Amino acid sequence: MKSQEKTNMTKLIIANWKAFEGRDIIERFKDFKVSSHTGFHFIICPPTPLLGQFNTQEMGISLGAQDCSQHAKGAFTGEVTASLLHDMGVKYCLIGHSERRRNCGETDEVLSQKLIQAVKAGIIPIFCVGETLEEREQGRTEFVLQQQLLILAGLKPEQLIIAYEPVWAIGGDKTPTPAEIQAVYQFIKADIDQDFQFVYGGSVSEGNAKMILDIPEVDGILVGRASTDPLKLAEMG
Ligand code: PGA
Repeated sequence: MKSQEKTNMTKLIIANWKAFEGRDIIERFKDFKVSSHTGFHFIICPPTPLLGQFNTQEMGISLGAQDCSQHAKGAFTGEVTASLLHDMGVKYCLIGHSERRRNCGETDEVLSQKLIQAVKAGIIPIFCVGETLEEREQGRTEFVLQQQLLILAGLKPEQLIIAYEPVWAIGGDKTPTPAEIQAVYQFIKADIDQDFQFVYGGSVSEGNAKMILDIPEVDGILVGRASTDPLKLAEMG
């Protein structure tokens, strides 16, 4: 798939609501409807207890989970399995988000199991990779990405979406330049030796979404804070 072909594809707008919101977000999004002609595919990733609360057909969106269990099923109190998420209508799942790597100690081994469970359950993983500011300043971005990508070895790139989310860009107001995002795409493509769906995340807002979505190599955006406001989210598409 060449960049030219990518330009003609429906672009993804993925909303990661993290743990920002309570139940009132259901009411706030009650009039959020995406027309099928927009050329954008909205994927909303609410906190797990809210997953069943949205009429995805009426809204014209798909549902994503923010996490899934590394286990298929069993005595794992508190875990939510990928197969149950699938039964609940979930089509996508974030895996490898830097907040979970950092705050929940998710190792490559755990992430690898989560990827397998998601794919087995029929869920498309949105696998997040990205370097910290320190790693960037030390010129280690490519090395870090390469290490994070190793666990994709057994998977087919068409089974997943790769999200480049530089840790230093998340929750702030800085983003890499379009050229830097393109360079990361090219690096990953060469590293895994195949094309794949590629989204960018980290400080995306209604102000810079278009610029990022216009990058031919970029198939979509992954939006945190700004995605909990239905007006801002709609403006991105
Ligand atoms: P942000 O978060 O848009 O608030 O920077 C993005 C993310 O962490 O997925």
